Amino acid sequence: MNDLKTSFPPDFLWGGAIAACQAEGAYNVDGRGLAVSDVALRYDKHSKHYDRKLMTPQKLAVALKDDNDAHFPKRAGIDFYHHFKEDIALCAEMGFKVFRFSISWSRIFPTGIEDVPNQAGLEFYDKVIAEIVKYGMEPLVTINHFDMPMYLVTELGGWANRAVIDHYVRYASTLFERYSKDVKYWIAFNEINGARFNVFYSTGVLENASDNYLQDCYQAAHHQFVASALAAQQLHEIRPDGMLGCMVAKFTTYPATCRPEDALEAQQNEQMDNYYFTDTLMRGAYPAYAPRFWAENNIKLEITKEDEKILRESPADYLAFSYYMSSISSKNKDNMEQTGGNLKQTLKNPYLEASDWGWQIDPEGLRYTLNDMYNRYQKPLFIVENGIGAEDKIIDGEIQDDYRIDYLARHIAQMKEAIIDGVDLLGYTTWSAIDIVSSGTSEMAKRYGFIYVDLDDDGNGTLARRKKKSFAWYQKVIASNGAEL
Ligand code: BG6
Repeated sequence: MNDLKTSFPPDFLWGGAIAACQAEGAYNVDGRGLAVSDVALRYDKHSKHYDRKLMTPQKLAVALKDDNDAHFPKRAGIDFYHHFKEDIALCAEMGFKVFRFSISWSRIFPTGIEDVPNQAGLEFYDKVIAEIVKYGMEPLVTINHFDMPMYLVTELGGWANRAVIDHYVRYASTLFERYSKDVKYWIAFNEINGARFNVFYSTGVLENASDNYLQDCYQAAHHQFVASALAAQQLHEIRPDGMLGCMVAKFTTYPATCRPEDALEAQQNEQMDNYYFTDTLMRGAYPAYAPRFWAENNIKLEITKEDEKILRESPADYLAFSYYMSSISSKNKDNMEQTGGNLKQTLKNPYLEASDWGWQIDPEGLRYTLNDMYNRYQKPLFIVENGIGAEDKIIDGEIQDDYRIDYLARHIAQMKEAIIDGVDLLGYTTWSAIDIVSSGTSEMAKRYGFIYVDLDDDGNGTLARRKKKSFAWYQKVIASNGAEL
């Protein structure tokens, strides 16, 4: 019998998140190898170029010859590499219980295929983790967040090549050996459904590199599933109470009308956008609807008996997800307005407001999502990204980001409702703890943090950190364990 919960549990993990490729910079320092994120071009403000997630061999060849770092803002990031002590101290001042960050694969294995890791890379994360632990925060580590080593792409064809599994597992095991004493919570891949929406940065698969691009994408996802399960095995051997999470970008999708064909369309979108990935990793086997999708899309995957065994034996320990917005689906899209969204465009929901980038703000959708996913898997959930991208303005030395406070407060209120509904929620890391370079467009103008970084889209600025109004607000939220919003 489940007990009635009334609010956030006392050990609830409040915090914030960043990613190495958007924050660290120092892309060619201390032996770090080139990564896919280093060729992410800067797009114009409010860009709607959703094709930017795709990379052809031709576009990549041009980017690799371009040595003008200003074209690729992630190379410089916000220089977390040299500011991490100051940044982590500010997060500790807000009262964070957890700090989510990712490790740069090419800092540890510059090409991805080395037998021996790069000591300077390992030592950098020794220091980052020591700093987090010093303040009593729990580190939450993403093993790979959109920054696989470039060599694995140009020489091996990215995750479409089965050999990448071994390279990843060697990398993950190196991290577990070195850091799992201090790190209990891990995420194998940021938004593993990126194989569907963010192909190049998630999987290193190039468009038009073979005669069946879709097959390459889903084969890559399969290899990531196996790698994730193998990583879970390794972690549990090294730290039995360690928790390896499966993470997706959750696309909650409603039918545009109560027409049955719209409901079916929404269900099919949910299946292929989210559950194809989470069902496989949380349950340890592909879902029943997968074979029809493969057959209708001319996809023939190589899935061995051994792969099936590995998936079955090591499902993920918890389900982590990012949630920014919701979507709607309609069978007949004629005359329906499109709007922006995380990783993909969607149809406009007339009942929702949207951010300046067109992402539809839906706090109730978060409660709906939490209930839906918890009841599907009955395993702990962790919201590891949630926030609003906005152009913050400094007026008289202050940044009054009330829109951010409003967005977060409304989502936190719905999280609390979901907990009372019975959902087992481990924690909440907002996106992002501090302003960082945008993933989708490499802009600096699209800011998410509680901490402002003095850096503009052209790479100008002192890099000085400054607290926004939301800084003190979130400090109060954490101190009151979510009671004061
Ligand atoms: C998520 C990514 O999809 O969305 C983050 O995991 C990203 O890396 C975040 O920053 C917000 O997207 P964007 O494009 O606004 O930075």
